[in-house]
Amino acid sequence: MKTILVTGGAGYIGSHTCVELLNSGYNVIVMDNFSNSKPEVIKRVERIAGKSIKLYETDMLDYDKVCRIFEENRISAVIHFAGLKAVGESCEKPAAYYYNNICGIMEIIRAMIKYGCNKLVFSSSATVYGTDNPAPYVEDMPVAAASSSPYGNTKIMIERILADICAVNPDWSVVLLRYFNPIGAHESGIIGDNPVGIPNNIFPYIQKVSVGKLPILRVFGNDYDTPDGTCIRDYIHVVDLVKGHLCAVDYVMKNKGCEPVNLGSGKGTSVLELITAFEEASGAKIPYEIQGRRAGDIAVTYANAEKALRLFSWKTLYDINKMCADGWNFIKNNPNGI
Ligand code: NAD
Ligand code: UFG
Repeated sequence: MKTILVTGGAGYIGSHTCVELLNSGYNVIVMDNFSNSKPEVIKRVERIAGKSIKLYETDMLDYDKVCRIFEENRISAVIHFAGLKAVGESCEKPAAYYYNNICGIMEIIRAMIKYGCNKLVFSSSATVYGTDNPAPYVEDMPVAAASSSPYGNTKIMIERILADICAVNPDWSVVLLRYFNPIGAHESGIIGDNPVGIPNNIFPYIQKVSVGKLPILRVFGNDYDTPDGTCIRDYIHVVDLVKGHLCAVDYVMKNKGCEPVNLGSGKGTSVLELITAFEEASGAKIPYEIQGRRAGDIAVTYANAEKALRLFSWKTLYDINKMCADGWNFIKNNPNGI
């Protein structure tokens, strides 16, 4: 049985990934420092899957402790989720973001090299396409020289680092998964997006408004060049996204090199359409007010998802209604979070 190290495995996407890995027969090791998650999440993952996880409460910046994980286990591949991800906060604290995200993955890579593990799946982002490429984004478009935030820059830099390592180490195999907008939750309703504090992203914000934890949604701009004036994004059910990770793990086991792959549906949904879909799925009312544009927002982003279909035979299965229904199921069961 193959063993996968999931860094940041107690987080939103990591926790859902652990469920699918366990269900698919992998041994799962989680390394997390719980800076943006709670150990309770791991218990819930184990409950859903009916299997156990080996948990290391470890900061990825602590090289000796990271090495100990490789020393004590025979790790076939790493899925690297650990990182700080709040775009706005990264503009206020760039040093903290560069230190955690860049130095953190460097410690993981050093340990992988030391212990001969050369298979990695990395959580990248559509943000690497920057502002000049037109949607739909295709993997062979040029990556932006710089993003509009230090957070985005860490994704661009890490993609570069991993490509450079693969270029001179022909035994290495890396998939750079460029996520579009993951939302929704596991259909059990016991794990989901559980951000600490006031959410930055629209979906957890809508969830909190739906259960009265926040009074009103602010819609950032209705004067974009889109049919209803609000921004269009490629929302993807977190479970679909996670299934793309299992395909990527399988791919790195059998192939070499460094491959960027979009994980999106290829379909755009506006902010107002998302609000309507959530109201229909939940029966809850989402009061909103139109505000000015948010700095750094792009009018339209969505994926060309053909490469994932070609390489992985993967495509999304769940539509926006299912994303909203599962997101509602999670928040109504966990109005105060996990
Ligand atoms: P999350 O914050 O829920 O999960 C990240 C996990 O990493 C948390 O459990 C946190 O405690 C842990 N972590 C952070 N720093 C660490 C450190 N130094 N050592 C050990 N653990 C550490 O985020 P998520 O939404 O699950 O995102 C996972 C990854 O996917 C991130 O790298 C994020 O940048 C990327 N991503 C997310 C989105 C999105 O919309 N959620 C979009 C594109 C890319
Ligand atoms: N929005 C609102 N109100 C809010 C929050 C967001 O109207 O309270 C709008 C935004 O203006 C944008 C849309 O909802 O038009 C989506 O915004 P999100 O913050 O949910 O998502 P982004 O597309 O801005 O960014 C997300 C992740 C990034 C990642 C990017 C591409 O936050 O980390 O998707 O993957 F880089």
